[in-house]
Amino acid sequence: MNPVILAIESSCDETSASVIRNGKVLNNIIATQAIHQKYGGVVPELASRAHQQNIVAVVNEALETANVSATELSAVAFTRGPGLMGALLVGVSFAKGLALGLNIPLIEVNHMQAHILAHFIEDPKPEFPFLCLTVSGGHTQIVQVRSFTDMEVIGQTHDDAVGEAFDKAAKIMGLPYPGGPLIDKHAQSGNANAYKFSETVMPGLDFSFSGIKTAFLYFLRDEKLKNPSFVEENLNDICASLQQHLVNMLLKRVDQASEQTGIRNIAIAGGVSANSGLRAGLQLLGEKRGWNIFIPSFQYCTDNAGMIAIAAHYKFLANDFTSLAVTPLARMPV
Ligand code: KG4
Ligand code: ZN
Repeated sequence: MNPVILAIESSCDETSASVIRNGKVLNNIIATQAIHQKYGGVVPELASRAHQQNIVAVVNEALETANVSATELSAVAFTRGPGLMGALLVGVSFAKGLALGLNIPLIEVNHMQAHILAHFIEDPKPEFPFLCLTVSGGHTQIVQVRSFTDMEVIGQTHDDAVGEAFDKAAKIMGLPYPGGPLIDKHAQSGNANAYKFSETVMPGLDFSFSGIKTAFLYFLRDEKLKNPSFVEENLNDICASLQQHLVNMLLKRVDQASEQTGIRNIAIAGGVSANSGLRAGLQLLGEKRGWNIFIPSFQYCTDNAGMIAIAAHYKFLANDFTSLAVTPLARMPV
């Protein structure tokens, strides 16, 4: 059996579709919703509407560029959660309609598991067990991954996600949404040791990122009292210092997690894994510790349907299908 699966991702602000044939992801079509930029963050109602507008074109493009007709599909997969309820509903309803119309099975996918399983789209693929630092706009987790379905969160944030910390700090500096990639860009020409920030230390392998936002706000306020153009004049150094601070917080926990579990296969996933400072920092630490490092290519870091497709492929092989009565889940544990 060579399953051909259409996968749909609509959990946040990317409408995406992908076709996978026998475990090979054929494409990864993504429509990014620019509308949120002027509001400085994702507006859930606008996200749902944009998904409604984009989904038919995105799915058609995925089928056409894969040279697959709808009647060839073995199953339809979709993101069940976690995510924005109205946004998820668009993808879930579309997938249900298609499954019903074509009389093929439905496969639900957990978005966070899919970020991790994105590592199985390309080579090199990690061997089980591995640790995955999953870092996005909504999550910051260290996950112990034992198989395609057996995953345990062993560390997580108590408040903001690290992507949120990047985006909020960028907003404070007047940069547009999403600010994470812009901080990364400016950081590349800055001095990472120019400024120091404090850290809220949590127990075990957990994180806290809400304190850094307030500390950063006060730091800029105080500096601007002395020099009103402080941000404009020192943007690269501020970005580089903040990025290094956030990356160090993440890597310290990954190091502890590896020591605690004895696992030396280390992966990163989620939108923030596109960050150049994190990628370089992990590579460096990995060389020092003798770890096997797995870093996804950029297109599979941020939200995409390719990762939903690969997760669905393994579910298809395990005959793990979903009822047509399924509903989305805004919260969905790994
Ligand atoms: O995984 P993702 O696309 O969506 C969620 O599931 O949240 O992650 C989006 C997050 C945003 O916070 C964005 O600013 C951050 O990933 N991000 C980055 C970079 N690229 C995306 N943060 C830092 N550096 C980057 N290069
Ligand atoms: Zn995501």
